[in-house]
Amino acid sequence: RFATLTRQPDDPLLRIIGQHAADPRARKIDLGVGVFRDEEGRTPVMTAVKAAETRLLSEQSSKSYLGPEGDTGFVRALAKLVVGDAVASDRVVGLQTPGGTGALRLAAELMARAGVARIWIGSPSWANHAPLFRQAGVEPAMIPCFDLGTQTFDLDGFLTGLNAADSGDAVLLHGCCHNPIGIDPNAAGWSVIASHIAERGLLPVVDLAYQGLGDGFDEDAAGARTILSTVPEALLAYSCDKNFGLYRERTGALFAITPDRDSGATVFSNLLGLARANWSMPPDHGAAIVRIILEDEALTAQWRDELETMRRRLESLRAALAAGGRIGAIDLGAVAHGKGMFATLPLSPAQVEWLRDRHAIYMAGSGRINIAGFNLAAIATFHDALRDMVANAVV
Ligand code: LMR
Repeated sequence: RFATLTRQPDDPLLRIIGQHAADPRARKIDLGVGVFRDEEGRTPVMTAVKAAETRLLSEQSSKSYLGPEGDTGFVRALAKLVVGDAVASDRVVGLQTPGGTGALRLAAELMARAGVARIWIGSPSWANHAPLFRQAGVEPAMIPCFDLGTQTFDLDGFLTGLNAADSGDAVLLHGCCHNPIGIDPNAAGWSVIASHIAERGLLPVVDLAYQGLGDGFDEDAAGARTILSTVPEALLAYSCDKNFGLYRERTGALFAITPDRDSGATVFSNLLGLARANWSMPPDHGAAIVRIILEDEALTAQWRDELETMRRRLESLRAALAAGGRIGAIDLGAVAHGKGMFATLPLSPAQVEWLRDRHAIYMAGSGRINIAGFNLAAIATFHDALRDMVANAVV
């Protein structure tokens, strides 16, 4: 049977990790995959995480199964943090998933089971969104709504695109720190989107993977809360990869907002069954760490402090990048409109390749850059490389 299969290309984003590692040039800069880095280019384990791990190691008395719902203390603590008071607690159900991707996959399977045929996605979006939903049986429909030249989100264009949606379709929303653009709706924009979705009977699916890395911890949940408090039903996929630095531990959760407690119990039973058929039970370690942090005031304060330092680093790097101003056709100043880890520059695939070959600068083929991959010296190098690109008329 395997002879019927055709060879698939490597994931282009994950391929950059290997390409960068294999490059012998000392001055190389990795702006590829979205991981936080410090000034020295390291992705350290957060101090609060280390402390929670130490405690876990000494106190954990069993590795026995927990169940498809995972660590319920983790889910409860996270729900409080994310949903807050936006929705009555008896309308919220949730379970632990292997990362934010696991949460999205579970959401997609629940949607397919509930007869949701299509999900509308503002484009460009995270490269894994469309294939993930398609493979679960929910067809992605893209709405181009970002202008790279001016680094702006076209709210009217997005809403007009949504007019083609049928009642019962889903719509994907990046909760904060849009990946790959870095541009989110403002508060008024979120309200308009929420009413538009509610009026048309669409199901919002919020992907919240960068809470605390944009404007601040609660500020970054404000858009999601506006949506959740406006609609009868919603899904929210949460990732702890970035804000707890837990990447490889695959720590996330899926929350469903339901009209009432009874429908919540039905949705939850479906989620448990789908999780069981997928991965049976999620990996424990990362969720146990997050639970220990969130159930301990001092550790929570320490983690929030570290997260705030990370957020400020991203903010200052973004400002330094934007200070490069206009270089040829690229207005770096516009990058200041964004927040979080990413920006996407209006670069052609040929320019991206040239920057890699000539200057050892690695980024996604789309022109997406991970701002955390810079330090101040690397930003100066990047500005110079762009000037060199323009001087050499690379298009
Ligand atoms: C990214 O977009 O770089 C990250 O979310 C990592 C991934 O899985 O793609």
